[in-house]
Parts: sequence; C-alpha cells; structure tokens
Amino acid sequence: MSLVTKDELIGKLKPVYMSHEIDGRILPLVDEINRLKKEKNAVLLGHNYMTPDVFWGVSDIIGDSLYLSKMAKETTADIILFNGVHFMAETAKILSPTKKVLIADMKAGCSLAESITREDVKKLKAQYPGVPVVTYVNCSADVKAETDVCCTSANAVQIVNAMETDTVIFLPDEYLAGNVQNQTSKKLITHPGKCMVHEMYTPADIQSAKRLFGGELTVITHPECHEDVVKEADFSGSTSQMIDFIRMSKTDKIMLVTECSMGDNLRAEFPEKEFVSTCQTCPHMKKITLEKVRDALLYEQFEIFLDAEVIESAAKSVNRMLEISYKK
Ligand code: 13P
Ligand code: SF4
Repeated sequence: MSLVTKDELIGKLKPVYMSHEIDGRILPLVDEINRLKKEKNAVLLGHNYMTPDVFWGVSDIIGDSLYLSKMAKETTADIILFNGVHFMAETAKILSPTKKVLIADMKAGCSLAESITREDVKKLKAQYPGVPVVTYVNCSADVKAETDVCCTSANAVQIVNAMETDTVIFLPDEYLAGNVQNQTSKKLITHPGKCMVHEMYTPADIQSAKRLFGGELTVITHPECHEDVVKEADFSGSTSQMIDFIRMSKTDKIMLVTECSMGDNLRAEFPEKEFVSTCQTCPHMKKITLEKVRDALLYEQFEIFLDAEVIESAAKSVNRMLEISYKK
C-alpha cells in the first residue's frame, strides 16, 4: 500500500532531487522497502517533517503528531515503523503495547523532550498540589506517565479548557504555552522548554518578508514559535492544520514558518502555489533516511521497549487526550 503511484512519486520528487538520485538511489530503495513492508505486515507512519523520499515514497499514513498517534492505536499491522522522532515512536508503543514498534534511528530526539524529566514533573506537582498537569506529547514516556492529560499543537487549547481548575500546569514548551495562554482564561504554570527549530524565528523575519511581498503573502506559523512571531502570522496551527489551511485557502503565495521538509512536501502537493520558505532544519527529524528505514525493516531494528508501569500510566494521559480530542 503506497500513497502515490510510481509516476506520481517521480513527479513529487523532481522539484527536490536530481534525476540520477531519483533513479539510482530513491526508487530502488522505495521498491525494496515496499516489498519488506508487505512481507512483514508492517505499517510506516510518516510525520509531516520527513524528507519527500520518506514522506511520499514509503509512508502508508502521513500526518501530525495527533493523527499519527490515533492511527498507531488503530492499526492491525504486526510492526509499526515510526518515521518521526523518538517520542512519537514511544507514543505508538504506549498506545499499541503488544505491537513491535521500531524507529530507524534511536538518536532522533527532540529538544523539547530533552528539556524535562519525570522528577521535574513530580516537583511541580508537589509545589502545586491538586493542579492538573497537561503535557505536550513532545516528551518522554516517563514524563507522560506523570501527566494527567497529554496534548499536541492541534488540540492544546481544547485540552487546557477541558480541565476543571482555573490553573493548569502546562509542560514543557514555554512558547506553545504562551500561545495557549493567549487563547484561554486559565492561568498556565510553565516550564522553560523550547523547540530548537521554531525558537529560531523572530517577528522581524515575517515583517521583512511582508515588506518584500506585500499583501499577497500569507504567513503560516507553527505554535512552537514565540507568541510575538505567531501574532505576525495569518494562521497558526499543527503541521496538519497548516496543510488543511493551505488546501482550503485561495492564497497562492505562502510563507511557511516551520521545518524545511514541510515546504518540500507541500511544494510537491500544491505545485500551483508558491512557497517562500525561510526554513529551519530539525536535525533530529533528518536522522531518518531512506537507507535507515530499509535497514530498520530488514533487521527489525531499533525496537522501542518501555516498562509496564510506564506504559500503563502514560496510556492514561495519551488516551485521555484522544478521548477529549475525538469526542463526537
Ligand atoms: P505536529 O505535527 O503535531 O504539529 O508537531 C510538530 C512537531 O514539532 C513535531 O516534532
Ligand atoms: Fe522537537 Fe522541534 Fe524537532 Fe519537532 S521540530 S522534533 S519539536 S526539535
């Protein structure tokens, strides 16, 4: 099962890769990976920040953190290979504990996940007894196990507003917290974590692009950017919400304030639109290459293992998020 035919894939890869790379490296690897997937009954989940060869070439399901966790829970495959970063693969294991969950490179981390430990959460809980803890999914399974409800950038405001208290501990992204604070009457207690990609953007980046392109430019940011950057934008949302906004809007000149591969993948999906990307690369996401994806399937490496206690406690916070988010 592939998202696109071979001809469509070549069309999507052409704006980004040289012809000899498509023919000599990418297509043979795509064939090999798709064969291995079938043989092993594996499903490949691809985050929107994957490079186009991984994203369009071998992913069965693509999306943002929220959608991919929902799909990890629902899959009937024997193996889940998560093409994203480590915390995403851990989330898949939490939601599908009996499945073999793999990631192509264990070192594909995240600056936000690294910013906080389970001990830090315990300390905050002791400092603010009775205050619920909402944690961004960009954290370790250990941290999720200490959390009341998880959230993603797609549902952070909804989850915070679903809490019954006036004060909420919101971890670990300080900038996402700032953006949520601007949309809720609840008081948020925060932690100084940041995304190393989105913290690089400044309001001046957007102001100068707007001066250059004038009113025809539509600026779209991820809410991991500082609130002053988000205030300059026309729209802010999770990676999939950004894509949906582009799909629905008539705008044809777009500045993406997010990770580089989003721009490459969107250029392939919307060739009629112009993307003015001042992109920043996530070194963690870029650890996932087609070669490593092939090896991960071939050798069934690298497997995510979690303690039963961590899975049980973390599943409560992730499932609570899914219940609130997808409630009918
Ligand atoms: P979303 O896809 O949920 O918007 O997450 C963005 C991100 O930073 C993942 O690393
Ligand atoms: Fe983490 Fe930012 Fe990279 Fe996403 S883009 S994995 S939040 S460092």
